[in-house]
Amino acid sequence: MRRLLSILLALATALSPVGTPVLSARQPVHAKHGMVVSRETHATDAGVAVLESGGNAIDAAVTVALALGVTHPAAGNIGGGGFMLIRLANGTSTFIDFRERAPASASRNMYIDPATGKATNESVVGYRASGIPGTVRGMELAHSKYGKKPWKELVEPAVKLAAEGFPVSYGYAQSLQGKGTMDRLSKFPESKRIFLRDGKPYEMGEIFKQPDLARTLARIRDNGAKDFYEGETARLFAADMAAHGGDITLDDLRGYKAIERKPVEGSYKGYGVITSPPPSSGGIGILQMMGMLEGTNYEKAGAGSATALHYEAEVMRRYFADRSEYLGDPDFFKVPMTALLNPKYIASRRESIDPAKATPSESLRPGVLAPYESNETTHYSIVDSEGNAVSVTYTLNAFFGSGVTPTGLGFLLNDEMDDFAADPGHPNMFGLLQGESNAIAPHKTPLSSMSPTIITKDGKLYLVVGAPGGPTIINQVFETILNVLDFGMNMQQAVDQPRIHHQWMPDSLSVESTVSPDTIELLKQKGHVVRLTNSIGDIAAIRLDGQWLEGAADGRTEATAKGY
Ligand code: DON
Repeated sequence: MRRLLSILLALATALSPVGTPVLSARQPVHAKHGMVVSRETHATDAGVAVLESGGNAIDAAVTVALALGVTHPAAGNIGGGGFMLIRLANGTSTFIDFRERAPASASRNMYIDPATGKATNESVVGYRASGIPGTVRGMELAHSKYGKKPWKELVEPAVKLAAEGFPVSYGYAQSLQGKGTMDRLSKFPESKRIFLRDGKPYEMGEIFKQPDLARTLARIRDNGAKDFYEGETARLFAADMAAHGGDITLDDLRGYKAIERKPVEGSYKGYGVITSPPPSSGGIGILQMMGMLEGTNYEKAGAGSATALHYEAEVMRRYFADRSEYLGDPDFFKVPMTALLNPKYIASRRESIDPAKATPSESLRPGVLAPYESNETTHYSIVDSEGNAVSVTYTLNAFFGSGVTPTGLGFLLNDEMDDFAADPGHPNMFGLLQGESNAIAPHKTPLSSMSPTIITKDGKLYLVVGAPGGPTIINQVFETILNVLDFGMNMQQAVDQPRIHHQWMPDSLSVESTVSPDTIELLKQKGHVVRLTNSIGDIAAIRLDGQWLEGAADGRTEATAKGY
């Protein structure tokens, strides 16, 4: 018996690269032409149908965004915003920032109760929590510059899903019955009526139809983004805001612009890294953390080992300290990007890592930079048959956003104002400490952790990756990339591998409970304050491995990968 076991073990070792635990119980989805990985199966199918009928990845991204707004209302949206990273088949890249912006009346202390000097929860729940939504403008900009198919054709699948309905999944039904969701949605009659069916939430398999949303989407289909920002939808939206003490006006809507930015680019061990620029804090973080790891040989200890996890946690801790101080909307605050990515600075941060001991976060401040010119989210990834790649993360912020559905419009609004330092010096909903760089100001964009990222190998498309999950996003994306580049995993293994998360403050290391108990013990011995958690995040990723697309949906959720 023992002999048989040792033969089996030897075989298993021979079949997988040393140090790479094969944890996935399933294979990635393989396809030759195109691939969509998204959080919800009807949206994934709608995206694949666009690709199959000759649309490109940008076309499919528009359809998936609007379809998720129907079938995954906790995070998919037209009442929120996000980021789209595009790498075209010709090798050029661009980034569309369609994140929410603060209304004109916003001010630094708008959420501070003058009587107590403390923050209220108005940045989280209710009409005052929303930034001006950007999704519809963002999709319009992406489509007008990079799409191929007619806009109407791309919006139609979402109209149909809203009008005809779709069977509610197990996960969606469960999420509606959670106490937090029930409480949040019940506060607002329109949300209660639509999403909780007036107190009788949908069960798995029941058909969920959304006629109000279908009418809104049909207007967007017929009149374009103009309807949402200047037309009938804008008028109803602004009137409902005014009637409930909200801050967003018709002028705010009219003035909203999606912004095309240059992605942040860098390299790691010879791979190209194309990632999200400010107002995302993710891209700089991923590059800085990769830089700190380079040359440490941390990967020699093997994937999932206490040594490798310790190094990963320590670089996370260091980056998040910098994030608290140096990141904000680049149109309002000079983000010291060059200094944060300066190799000398990164080397000095690397040298401060003790291989044997966790650095207490209290003793670690944001780094001293070289002088610089003073001057419930969801992700989907798409690759098409021409080799265009799109990586989109967009969000309402909290699960089901602010809880508000404007009367008659059928879509939930974001509570993205909480991503600002609504109460500077005090942690926000994700426990993040943030300072003046991210203080509220009119028209400003709140700092984000959303980090759509693309990796190239020998100048060719290699990985498309991203995730929801607040600050854990940056670390999830980082870990998934390391799993492929440093530990030789295929796309599914890389996604399924247990995750950790550190964000400097609070000084605790979140560890998925699938990490082995003795590894956890070793991390504790190094001084990490371990907090076990069932699940961190939800990566949607695609790898181009030779001629094959390898799609990986995250087994932690009901996400699906589908190709053709
Ligand atoms: O932009 C951000 O960083 C946050 N609004 C993301 C929120 C999020 O990922 C919640 N999801 N699970």
